[in-house]
Amino acid sequence: MLILGIETSCDETSIAVVSDGRKVIANAVASQINIHSRYSGVVPELASRAHLENINLVFEEALNNAKINKKDLAKKISAVSYTRGPGLAGALLVGQITAQTLSFIYKLPLVDVNHLEGHLYAALLEHKGLRPPYLCLIASGGHTELVIVKGYGKYNLIGATRDDAAGEAFDKVSKLLGLGYPGGPVIDNISKKGNSSRIRFPRPFLWPSWDFSFSGLKTAVVNHVKSVSGYKERAKNLSRKEKADISASFQDAVVETLIEKTIKAAKRYKMNTVVLGGGVSANSELRSAVLKRCRKEGLKAYLPSLELCTDNAAMIACAGYYKFKRLGIKKVIETKIEPNLKLQSW
Ligand code: KG4
Ligand code: ZN
Repeated sequence: MLILGIETSCDETSIAVVSDGRKVIANAVASQINIHSRYSGVVPELASRAHLENINLVFEEALNNAKINKKDLAKKISAVSYTRGPGLAGALLVGQITAQTLSFIYKLPLVDVNHLEGHLYAALLEHKGLRPPYLCLIASGGHTELVIVKGYGKYNLIGATRDDAAGEAFDKVSKLLGLGYPGGPVIDNISKKGNSSRIRFPRPFLWPSWDFSFSGLKTAVVNHVKSVSGYKERAKNLSRKEKADISASFQDAVVETLIEKTIKAAKRYKMNTVVLGGGVSANSELRSAVLKRCRKEGLKAYLPSLELCTDNAAMIACAGYYKFKRLGIKKVIETKIEPNLKLQSW
């Protein structure tokens, strides 16, 4: 069964075709990094306009890659799934209207998906043996969550972001150091040349809670930069080596916090499988540390490949497939976007 997925919640316009929830047939992604990088963050109005400009091109590209002709689309595709929320309202609207239009023209059932479910399921697309139950750490630009996936559509959210998400902290520290946007990949890169034990930044564990908070860590980096570079000049006075050391030390604090909490949660909830999802799970330090630590603890670890960590429509089609299989054909053309949509079981 082929599902067409649509993702437009933030700054990636993506349309994918996925077979039986597991095999990516096409996954076209148009990134808006060039548009937002000069502002060091996503500008919502520019994001919606870029989605509007890109969506038809991305649709054509996905169909071409999947070798599906538009006149056969109704026969080949079984349902259209799209991101209903959470995300930027204007950006979500472009995806929703596209999904509704395709559903209307081709008479296809429509499946609304929570963006976070996409991140929960991304690893399923490449690891055939993976199935629930598992513990998933979602670490992205907007969320840091620990979710027990008890079954398809059965979730237990045990910990969530209290303030800045992990990815947001990467982006803000990168901006502070004048390294560019998005911050995650640049900090990841420059950290390879830095000394991660040079500065001991705080580890915000928040025990006994499973929640996450990275705003204090971000402030600790700001205070450190002020103290070494002079209050007014900020990062301008820092050498490349100093920036690399600060980046590596900051990254070390984030990685240790994410891993300690995830491993402890896996033990507490008796989960022997750990899955990662979201843009921050593309981080090279986090990836190697999770694999190493899980091996040591006797846990199985599954990571999506880099292009499935960040936002993409294949993961939305995967989640849509399981929801469609369970709930069957629903004429839900009237569903509305929900920028603050919470993770819910179905
Ligand atoms: O999942 P995602 O594409 O979008 C959201 O749902 O938010 O995540 C984007 C976030 C950005 O904050 C970006 O800086 C971060 O993921 N990111 C990384 C890396 N690649 C992307 N963070 C750390 N290391 C990376 N290699
Ligand atoms: Zn995301």
